[in-house]
Amino acid sequence: MNAKEILQKYKQDELLEKLESLPENERELLEKDILSQDFELLNSLYNESKKEPVFSESDDIRPIQFPHSENDLRREMWQATGMHLLKQGYAAAFTLAGGQGSRLGFEGPKGAYEFGLPSKRSLFALQAERLLRLSAEAERPIPWCIMTSPLNHKETINHFEEHSYFGLNRNFVRFFPQGTIAALHPNGSPILTKENRLALVPDGNGGCFRALAQSGCLAWLVEQGIRYVFLNNIDNALIRICDPVFLGALAAQGNCEAMAKVVAKRDAAEKVGIFVYKNKKPAVIEYTDMPEDLRELKNGDDLVFDGANIGIYAFKIEALRKMQKTPLPWHTAKKTIENIPQALKFEQFLFDAFQSLNSFATFGAYRDDEFSPIKNAEGNDSPKMAREMLGKLHKSWLIQAGAQINPDKLYEISPTLSYAGEGLSDEIFKRELGKNILEF
Ligand code: UD1
Repeated sequence: MNAKEILQKYKQDELLEKLESLPENERELLEKDILSQDFELLNSLYNESKKEPVFSESDDIRPIQFPHSENDLRREMWQATGMHLLKQGYAAAFTLAGGQGSRLGFEGPKGAYEFGLPSKRSLFALQAERLLRLSAEAERPIPWCIMTSPLNHKETINHFEEHSYFGLNRNFVRFFPQGTIAALHPNGSPILTKENRLALVPDGNGGCFRALAQSGCLAWLVEQGIRYVFLNNIDNALIRICDPVFLGALAAQGNCEAMAKVVAKRDAAEKVGIFVYKNKKPAVIEYTDMPEDLRELKNGDDLVFDGANIGIYAFKIEALRKMQKTPLPWHTAKKTIENIPQALKFEQFLFDAFQSLNSFATFGAYRDDEFSPIKNAEGNDSPKMAREMLGKLHKSWLIQAGAQINPDKLYEISPTLSYAGEGLSDEIFKRELGKNILEF
């Protein structure tokens, strides 16, 4: 079928009229966009979106436990195992950076966002330098795959180029774009951009496993002998990328295929996905899909469903192969797209693929140590909050190391000095203050 026939079949009369009115060069581009889309799928997604959000009453939903790893006696063993994996070249990092960051209101790739640290490090810079620090300890480069979207791919690479890859060996960093899907007007017709192209938006992070494989990056990892992959969201200022303790814990679990870090939810209203057992299997229910009665449910003062998904996972490489082939459901969000309010945006979520895994474990972590996402311009999860949380965490590392700090100040420690608080002392503090340790 050509573009015209597709539009006729799916009764997109308005779009067809527009297409036929365009000058030839513009028409060809719009035809190309139309041919790139699965209109049968868009049609059924539109019809589904008119129904109330699906939450099957028959699903058996129970809270999940997430024992705190901080107090676990096996922690040192996990750390040693994880470092061994890195030294052997068995572990790689995979970062999801294809999202649009629309809540933050920042136009560029979210990873390039600077949130006001004294060093002016961007989110990408923090992750890259932490990885560099680990690579130095492992005495070899750690492969890093970064998923972008066609909307921010070039800008993302430019950010790395402008900063000379933050000192990383560029042969070990790979970028690949994810898929997109047409956004729909509330009346069901595809939205057009000012340039008369289809408004194609990223189709959610669920396509990450498929995109990793199709881009050739999965094969690249396999060729290098990678056995474990650490996966993270781009927006967390405290991310311990490729955390050896976490990787070591997964390796130590024998038959376990994947693990997720979980922190206690801040309050009932926090916009996070919740780890649950769904029909006896670990799953995440996204905040947009969580029924209010479950969200608010309390046992005394405590929330019953309190295991927050923080977008940090570790997988065995075979699990990635399996999840790449798992068919995923679609979720619908209503957003302003091309100035059209309540436009329909369809997304798949990566954690829906966990249902295909046989064994999955949670790994409890502390928010103050590991989770400060930048999502909103102000208030909770804002740049200001991330700056302060990083400043307080690094200050606590210095206090623990016995450094004579100014109690009224916050501190930023360069990842070249410390990855997670190790290797600091009063002597280093005095030597590095104003250089690799900044006061604010
Ligand atoms: C995500 C989680 C949520 C969790 C929260 C913690 C999903 C679907 N939701 O919410 O359960 O509590 O993080 O901070 O994962 N991304 C892409 N391509 C896309 C869309 C997103 O690569 O098409 C990336 C983003 O760049 C980001 C990550 O996926 O790194 C999550 O983004 P988003 O889908 O916006 O979910 P959140 O609302 O942040």
